[in-house]
Amino acid sequence: MIELQDIRKSFGDKEILKGVSAVMESGKVNLIIGSSGSGKTVMMKCIVGLMGVDSGKILYDNQDFTAMDEKEKKVIRQQIGMLFQGSALFDSMTVEQNVMFPLEMFGTGTLKEKKNRVAECLERVQLKDAAKKFPAEISGGMKKRVGIARAIVLNPKYLFCDEPNSGLDPQTSLLIDKLITELTKEYNITTVINTHDMNTVMESGDHIVYMYQGLKQWEGSNKDIVFSKDQRLNDFIFASEFLREAKEIRQLEMFKDGNWRNQLNKGEGKQP
Ligand SMILES: Nc1ncnc2c1ncn2[C@@H]1O[C@H](COP(=O)(O)OP(=O)(O)O)[C@@H](O)[C@H]1O
Ligand SMILES: [Mg+2]
Repeated sequence: MIELQDIRKSFGDKEILKGVSAVMESGKVNLIIGSSGSGKTVMMKCIVGLMGVDSGKILYDNQDFTAMDEKEKKVIRQQIGMLFQGSALFDSMTVEQNVMFPLEMFGTGTLKEKKNRVAECLERVQLKDAAKKFPAEISGGMKKRVGIARAIVLNPKYLFCDEPNSGLDPQTSLLIDKLITELTKEYNITTVINTHDMNTVMESGDHIVYMYQGLKQWEGSNKDIVFSKDQRLNDFIFASEFLREAKEIRQLEMFKDGNWRNQLNKGEGKQP
């Protein structure tokens, strides 16, 4: 579990994170959602330590990351896998070499063991046949899968993905979401995804943190969202007339299912 306690971050006199407290649950797909510029990337960079916070605490399984020295931080960092926006593959390396990279940097074991691990990860993301190809020779969805293979090659405890669906068509996006969700459950990873993709929210949001102007505005699950009365969240999620109608239909279906009382009570989410 990753816990954020009142984290703040400013650039000059512009405050981006204004005291955010939230929990990223173990073995779950945790989403950070919010409109462009709401501070999702800054928050993720702070959580993984690519950026320092001005104040507040970040706890990894009860260990205070913010109070650690560089050596201790390195131990945590080696348990983190990251899928960067736009995949960030090395163009001059093959798919296989890209996935091998973290193992060469931080891995232990023989070359043969490392090669086996790379093959295992490529197989897992169904890219065995593309091992010898270069990034320029494969599709956007395949590049993401290489990025995912690279992110999991060191068996991370925590997985961070910044906008994993940017630039992908809706069907490929769903496949990527499904893959990330499967890996999360399979290896019991604490996964954190930044997204503004509503398909992701509806399909894989076990636990969702909605950011609005540097603060946590709402927190809950994708099932809670359908019944949420938070106006800002509703305006963000159900932005079009079509989606507002779809929400009403979904509510009606849930009423018919008979578990509406339960859902209504949950609909408020957990307010900050
Ligand atoms: N290194 C930086 N220096 C100054 N301002 C930054 C920096 N990184 C991000 N920002 C600002 O922080 C705000 C939030 O950015 P970001 O976290 O990228 O938003 P999101 O990922 O939600 O779209 C933006 O206004 C952005 O301009
Ligand atoms: Mg961003």
